[in-house]
Amino acid sequence: MTALPTNQLEAFWLPFTPNREFKRNPRIVARAEGMHYFDLEGRKILDAAAGLWCANAGHCREPIVKAIQEAAATLDFAPTFQFGHPKVFEAAAKIAALAPGDLDHVFFTNSGSESTDTAVKLAVAYHRVKGEGTRTRVIGRERAYHGVGMAGISAGGIVNNKKWFNALAFQADHLPATYNRKEQHWSKGLPEWGAHLADELEKLIALHDASTIAAVIVEPVAGSTGVLPPPVGYLQRLREITAKHGILLIFDEVITGFGRVGAAFAAERFSVTPDLLTFAKGVTSGAAPMGGVLVDKKIYDAFMTGPDHAIDMFHGYTYSGHPLAAAAACATLDLYRDEGLFARARDLEKAFERGVHALRGKPHVADIRNVGLAAAFDLDPIDGAPGKRGFELMKTLFFEKDVMVRVAGDTIAFSPPLIATEGDLDEIFGRVAEALGAAA
Ligand SMILES: Cc1ncc(COP(=O)(O)O)c(C=O)c1O
Repeated sequence: MTALPTNQLEAFWLPFTPNREFKRNPRIVARAEGMHYFDLEGRKILDAAAGLWCANAGHCREPIVKAIQEAAATLDFAPTFQFGHPKVFEAAAKIAALAPGDLDHVFFTNSGSESTDTAVKLAVAYHRVKGEGTRTRVIGRERAYHGVGMAGISAGGIVNNKKWFNALAFQADHLPATYNRKEQHWSKGLPEWGAHLADELEKLIALHDASTIAAVIVEPVAGSTGVLPPPVGYLQRLREITAKHGILLIFDEVITGFGRVGAAFAAERFSVTPDLLTFAKGVTSGAAPMGGVLVDKKIYDAFMTGPDHAIDMFHGYTYSGHPLAAAAACATLDLYRDEGLFARARDLEKAFERGVHALRGKPHVADIRNVGLAAAFDLDPIDGAPGKRGFELMKTLFFEKDVMVRVAGDTIAFSPPLIATEGDLDEIFGRVAEALGAAA
């Protein structure tokens, strides 16, 4: 097949996509392998985005494929409400073994968004079981993306995601974004400037009183709004302030987890351990929908107090720990270990940094940031048409340069699978440089 019939395109309402334009110029991928997608005609497209920050082990890796196939033929579904199955316990143990500190329990979900909802609910419920039911306020951050559930919308910091739903969202306060172009222009890795922005939390605590605040949620590296690495010392400061005031710290590691920053989690890379840690995407290398929350022992234990027959937490999803996803997670985590992919990401970091920063000076490139195997550059917006220049470049890269990148407004982000070679990185940035050179 070389194209989908136009009438087949209509029914699907694509998420976070301009649908009418897409259906005129569909970007369809039909197959994937390793570092590449293939379109319907077999054109090979280099994946510089790990799909959507997911395929950290690369695409269609044999051990993961086989694990899913086997699971589908062995145990298609099993409830995890009141029952269990072997792979879900194995997956939880493997994930907990990768996590730092006392993050030793896993509550499974199916996505990053559900993980945000779950982490926030666990935080609020924890305070209540500890006798501090007034702690219900959640503090997020400007430019945060925590998905599209109500907790993600409320704690998130992206106006277009929030403004339609304010009436439904819960009240949340926001720390300032950590990015400041004037102070951090062209930073490589963590910017030196900005740790003091964590002290804004003290102001919010002074305003509301710690006794009303349940949790602070941040992405250790803000991903979706353009790869904003934390300033040196910022996360440590947040940890100190939250601990001092009995506020739980939630890291949203949906993007940073499973090797993206050259360690199992950003918590490990930056030596800051939160109380709750959300994950998704890379846990199965994108091969099956799965998310979850890593929970500190003290939180889990706080719920283990009622009578034997009573449910300890009124929360969960039919597909929490689905057998196919759990099998995919186990195989993926084994693959990360066997191929040393987290260390590989760390080893590639300098070459990746050199590659992306070589785009400095290309037409319209206004700033560049990177950490681990995540990077982004901003383009100067076209007057009166914000987002258009980024959108056009993403399309040119896909159709003419055979590269898939992630676009967010006028920002282009890179998060290649961790199996990338230096040659792949050269290809990616070389083709982007050509496209930028040719851009209007
Ligand atoms: C940091 C972060 N949190 C949450 C989410 C939401 O994940 P999902 O789309 O699986 O609901 C994302 C998605 O990109 C994310 O980047």
